[in-house]
Amino acid sequence: MTPDEPAVLITEEAIRQRVAELARRISSDYAGVEELLLVGILRGCFIFLADLSRLLTVPRSIDFIAVSSYGASATSTGAVRLIMDLRTEIAGKHVLIVDDIVDTGYTLQYLFNALKPRMPASLKTCVLLRKPEVFKMDWDIDYLGFDIPDLWVVGYGLDYADRYRTLPYIGSIKT
Ligand code: IMP
Ligand code: MG
Repeated sequence: MTPDEPAVLITEEAIRQRVAELARRISSDYAGVEELLLVGILRGCFIFLADLSRLLTVPRSIDFIAVSSYGASATSTGAVRLIMDLRTEIAGKHVLIVDDIVDTGYTLQYLFNALKPRMPASLKTCVLLRKPEVFKMDWDIDYLGFDIPDLWVVGYGLDYADRYRTLPYIGSIKT
Protein backbone atom coordinates (compact mmCIF):
# COMPACT_ATOMS: atom_id res chain seq x y z
CA MET A 1 0.00 0.00 0.00
CA THR A 2 1.40 3.37 -1.02
CA PRO A 3 0.73 6.34 1.33
CA ASP A 4 -1.88 7.51 -1.17
CA GLU A 5 -3.80 4.28 -1.37
CA PRO A 6 -6.85 3.99 0.93
CA ALA A 7 -7.10 0.96 3.23
CA VAL A 8 -10.03 -1.26 2.19
CA LEU A 9 -12.94 -1.04 4.62
CA ILE A 10 -15.80 -2.46 2.53
CA THR A 11 -15.06 -4.53 -0.57
CA GLU A 12 -16.69 -4.11 -3.95
CA GLU A 13 -18.46 -7.45 -3.50
CA ALA A 14 -19.82 -6.56 -0.04
CA ILE A 15 -21.18 -3.27 -1.41
CA ARG A 16 -22.78 -5.07 -4.36
CA GLN A 17 -24.57 -7.54 -2.07
CA ARG A 18 -25.77 -4.90 0.37
CA VAL A 19 -27.05 -2.57 -2.37
CA ALA A 20 -28.98 -5.52 -3.85
CA GLU A 21 -30.54 -6.24 -0.42
CA LEU A 22 -31.55 -2.60 0.00
CA ALA A 23 -33.06 -2.59 -3.49
CA ARG A 24 -35.10 -5.70 -2.65
CA ARG A 25 -36.44 -4.16 0.57
CA ILE A 26 -37.27 -0.84 -1.08
CA SER A 27 -38.95 -2.57 -4.03
CA SER A 28 -41.07 -4.64 -1.68
CA ASP A 29 -41.98 -1.70 0.60
CA TYR A 30 -43.04 0.50 -2.32
CA ALA A 31 -44.69 -2.27 -4.36
CA GLY A 32 -47.88 -0.94 -5.93
CA VAL A 33 -47.01 2.78 -5.78
CA GLU A 34 -47.47 4.67 -9.00
CA GLU A 35 -43.96 6.08 -8.84
CA LEU A 36 -41.09 6.47 -6.41
CA LEU A 37 -39.02 9.65 -6.73
CA LEU A 38 -35.39 9.08 -5.79
CA VAL A 39 -33.73 12.31 -4.67
CA GLY A 40 -29.95 12.05 -4.77
CA ILE A 41 -27.76 14.44 -2.81
CA LEU A 42 -24.94 15.54 -5.06
CA ARG A 43 -22.25 14.71 -5.53
CA GLY A 44 -21.43 11.77 -3.26
CA CYS A 45 -24.61 9.82 -4.10
CA PHE A 46 -24.02 9.39 -7.81
CA ILE A 47 -22.59 5.86 -7.90
CA PHE A 48 -24.77 4.46 -5.11
CA LEU A 49 -27.88 5.97 -6.72
CA ALA A 50 -26.92 4.63 -10.15
CA ASP A 51 -26.51 1.09 -8.81
CA LEU A 52 -29.51 1.15 -6.47
CA SER A 53 -31.94 2.70 -8.96
CA ARG A 54 -31.16 0.10 -11.62
CA LEU A 55 -31.95 -2.76 -9.22
CA LEU A 56 -35.37 -1.47 -8.16
CA THR A 57 -38.45 -3.15 -9.57
CA VAL A 58 -40.92 -0.31 -8.85
CA PRO A 59 -41.55 2.56 -11.29
CA ARG A 60 -39.11 5.30 -10.36
CA SER A 61 -37.80 8.66 -11.41
CA ILE A 62 -34.68 10.53 -10.36
CA ASP A 63 -33.94 14.09 -9.34
CA PHE A 64 -31.00 15.72 -7.61
CA ILE A 65 -30.39 18.31 -4.96
CA ALA A 66 -27.06 19.86 -4.04
CA VAL A 67 -26.01 21.20 -0.67
CA SER A 68 -22.84 22.82 0.55
CA SER A 69 -20.27 20.30 1.75
CA TYR A 70 -17.32 20.68 4.06
CA GLY A 71 -15.14 21.68 1.12
CA ALA A 72 -11.66 20.27 1.53
CA SER A 73 -11.99 20.12 5.29
CA ALA A 74 -13.14 17.02 7.14
CA THR A 75 -15.05 18.66 9.98
CA SER A 76 -18.74 19.49 9.96
CA THR A 77 -19.65 23.06 10.76
CA GLY A 78 -23.34 22.22 10.96
CA ALA A 79 -24.07 25.02 8.49
CA VAL A 80 -25.83 23.46 5.52
CA ARG A 81 -26.77 25.51 2.48
CA LEU A 82 -28.94 24.59 -0.52
CA ILE A 83 -26.95 25.07 -3.71
CA MET A 84 -29.29 23.48 -6.25
CA ASP A 85 -32.94 22.66 -5.68
CA LEU A 86 -35.06 19.89 -7.23
CA ARG A 87 -36.62 20.39 -10.65
CA THR A 88 -39.57 18.20 -9.67
CA GLU A 89 -42.66 19.22 -7.70
CA ILE A 90 -42.89 16.65 -4.92
CA ALA A 91 -46.39 17.32 -3.55
CA GLY A 92 -48.29 14.03 -3.41
CA LYS A 93 -45.26 11.96 -4.45
CA HIS A 94 -43.42 9.19 -2.65
CA VAL A 95 -39.93 10.58 -2.09
CA LEU A 96 -36.82 8.70 -1.02
CA ILE A 97 -33.75 10.80 -0.24
CA VAL A 98 -30.59 8.90 -1.21
CA ASP A 99 -27.22 9.85 0.24
CA ASP A 100 -23.78 8.32 0.42
CA ILE A 101 -23.05 8.85 4.11
CA VAL A 102 -24.40 10.41 7.29
CA ASP A 103 -21.88 11.79 9.69
CA THR A 104 -23.48 14.22 12.16
CA GLY A 105 -26.81 14.00 10.33
CA TYR A 106 -27.08 17.79 9.84
CA THR A 107 -27.32 17.49 6.05
CA LEU A 108 -30.17 14.97 6.08
CA GLN A 109 -31.97 16.83 8.86
CA TYR A 110 -31.76 20.03 6.84
CA LEU A 111 -33.09 18.38 3.67
CA PHE A 112 -35.85 16.59 5.53
CA ASN A 113 -36.99 19.93 7.00
CA ALA A 114 -36.75 21.59 3.59
CA LEU A 115 -38.75 18.92 1.73
CA LYS A 116 -41.39 17.97 4.31
CA PRO A 117 -43.39 21.24 3.97
CA ARG A 118 -43.77 20.54 0.22
CA MET A 119 -46.26 17.84 1.21
CA PRO A 120 -44.86 14.67 -0.36
CA ALA A 121 -47.09 11.58 0.04
CA SER A 122 -44.17 10.07 1.98
CA LEU A 123 -40.59 11.07 2.73
CA LYS A 124 -37.96 8.51 3.70
CA THR A 125 -34.18 8.23 3.71
CA CYS A 126 -31.73 5.72 2.24
CA VAL A 127 -28.06 6.06 3.14
CA LEU A 128 -25.19 3.74 2.34
CA LEU A 129 -22.95 4.53 5.34
CA ARG A 130 -23.43 5.85 8.85
CA LYS A 131 -20.89 6.72 11.54
CA PRO A 132 -22.83 5.87 14.72
CA GLU A 133 -20.18 7.46 16.97
CA VAL A 134 -20.88 10.82 15.34
CA PHE A 135 -24.58 10.56 14.44
CA LYS A 136 -26.50 12.52 17.08
CA MET A 137 -30.02 12.68 15.68
CA ASP A 138 -33.05 11.21 17.40
CA TRP A 139 -34.52 9.77 14.19
CA ASP A 140 -33.60 6.64 12.27
CA ILE A 141 -32.50 6.15 8.71
CA ASP A 142 -35.12 4.08 6.90
CA TYR A 143 -32.71 2.13 4.67
CA LEU A 144 -29.11 1.89 5.85
CA GLY A 145 -26.24 0.07 4.16
CA PHE A 146 -23.46 -0.14 6.76
CA ASP A 147 -22.40 1.29 10.09
CA ILE A 148 -18.71 2.23 10.00
CA PRO A 149 -16.14 3.57 12.48
CA ASP A 150 -15.43 7.30 12.69
CA LEU A 151 -12.85 7.39 9.89
CA TRP A 152 -12.73 9.50 6.73
CA VAL A 153 -13.88 7.18 3.98
CA VAL A 154 -13.56 7.50 0.22
CA GLY A 155 -14.55 5.61 -2.91
CA TYR A 156 -17.88 4.49 -4.43
CA GLY A 157 -18.78 8.18 -4.90
CA LEU A 158 -17.21 9.52 -1.71
CA ASP A 159 -14.31 11.93 -1.94
CA TYR A 160 -11.64 13.71 -0.05
CA ALA A 161 -11.05 17.11 -1.65
CA ASP A 162 -12.62 15.66 -4.81
CA ARG A 163 -10.25 12.72 -5.06
CA TYR A 164 -10.96 8.99 -4.94
CA ARG A 165 -14.64 9.14 -5.99
CA THR A 166 -14.33 6.43 -8.62
CA LEU A 167 -12.62 3.78 -6.48
CA PRO A 168 -14.80 0.63 -6.68
CA TYR A 169 -14.50 -0.10 -2.93
CA ILE A 170 -14.86 1.97 0.26
CA GLY A 171 -11.53 2.74 1.84
CA SER A 172 -10.31 4.89 4.69
CA ILE A 173 -7.62 7.54 4.56
CA LYS A 174 -5.79 9.64 7.10
CA THR A 175 -6.86 13.27 6.78
P1 IMP B 1 -23.29 15.38 7.94
O1 IMP B 1 -24.08 16.60 7.60
O2 IMP B 1 -22.33 15.63 9.08
O3 IMP B 1 -24.14 14.16 8.19
O4 IMP B 1 -22.34 15.10 6.74
C1 IMP B 1 -22.83 14.50 5.63
C2 IMP B 1 -22.00 14.79 4.40
O5 IMP B 1 -20.61 15.00 4.69
C3 IMP B 1 -22.04 13.57 3.53
O6 IMP B 1 -23.16 13.60 2.66
C4 IMP B 1 -20.72 13.63 2.81
O7 IMP B 1 -20.85 14.44 1.67
C5 IMP B 1 -19.79 14.30 3.80
N1 IMP B 1 -19.01 13.29 4.56
C6 IMP B 1 -19.12 12.99 5.87
N2 IMP B 1 -18.25 12.05 6.25
C7 IMP B 1 -17.56 11.72 5.12
C8 IMP B 1 -16.49 10.77 4.85
O8 IMP B 1 -15.98 10.02 5.71
N3 IMP B 1 -16.06 10.74 3.55
C9 IMP B 1 -16.57 11.53 2.57
N4 IMP B 1 -17.56 12.40 2.78
C10 IMP B 1 -18.05 12.51 4.05
MG1 MG C 1 -23.03 13.92 0.64
